[in-house]
Amino acid sequence: MTTLTGNNNSKEKNGVHVAIIMDGNGRWANGRGLPRVAGHRAGMEVVRRIVENAPNFGITTLTLYAFSADNWQRPSYEVNALMKLFRAYLLSEAKRCVDNGVRLNIVGRRDRFQPSIVELIETVEAATTKGDLLNLRVAVDYSARDAILRAAGKINGAREVSREKFSRLLAEVDHSGPTPDVDVLIRTGGEQRLSDFLLWECAYAELFFIKKMWPEFNPEDLEAVIKEFHCRERRFGRVVEPVDIAATQKTNGKFNGKEMNNVEPISSQSNFSHSVGRELWSNHRLD
Ligand code: FPP
Repeated sequence: MTTLTGNNNSKEKNGVHVAIIMDGNGRWANGRGLPRVAGHRAGMEVVRRIVENAPNFGITTLTLYAFSADNWQRPSYEVNALMKLFRAYLLSEAKRCVDNGVRLNIVGRRDRFQPSIVELIETVEAATTKGDLLNLRVAVDYSARDAILRAAGKINGAREVSREKFSRLLAEVDHSGPTPDVDVLIRTGGEQRLSDFLLWECAYAELFFIKKMWPEFNPEDLEAVIKEFHCRERRFGRVVEPVDIAATQKTNGKFNGKEMNNVEPISSQSNFSHSVGRELWSNHRLD
């Protein structure tokens, strides 16, 4: 996928980077008379299914927002439960990641975790470093604004800093490897905001706001989003000349290298942004 910051590594260059704000666990649980933590547990099962299926849809980088820097302000029982889940996830996923070619990277600050969690993160990252099918980034204690400030603090008086260099500084402060810009940002749960997630990396991301709560999200929903993404025209601020439009539509008509016969060209659709995955947008009302 195209990137402006240009910090792709070669294997990931042609894949899609999807970032997901997994919102709605609490409301999903409350709607069923369950404690909020039950929603987070159900959400973790969905994470497993989405990670398993992501490579089938041409996704090579997947960044999941699991815990924001502001989430520390939640009641302590919920913070403790989320940290427990995070630990359980790291313990249970290491082998699965290795078996499935997934490289796991925990993105964000690490200085506020218990030392045993930091140790576990480092062990799992080292064990999965050879994964080359999917770069799975889980953002925990993450704040895009804080990361930008910390990266800016590392500039060291240089008068000019390139986008590439700044992206590298951002990756450094958040314990991440080089990462392509986000192509697709999904937020479940019906809210339409970014909540301090990947503000730099999402400069040209295509945004998808889904009404379903995260525990209801499934691989078919992800596939529908990716299909619509491939039909969107991305201009990156440029004008697409008429001759290029034909080329763009030709590329957009392909999904995973295969023609998608059920998707009309952009110019012939009247209500384009809702034409693919319509059910996804309209069938699920917020409680
Ligand atoms: C937002 O929903 C979700 C979170 C703050 C936690 C996300 C965690 C998981 C999906 C499970 C753990 C995953 C891993 C990878 C360890 P919310 O609680 O704000 O929902 P609400 O808006 O309905 O209250």
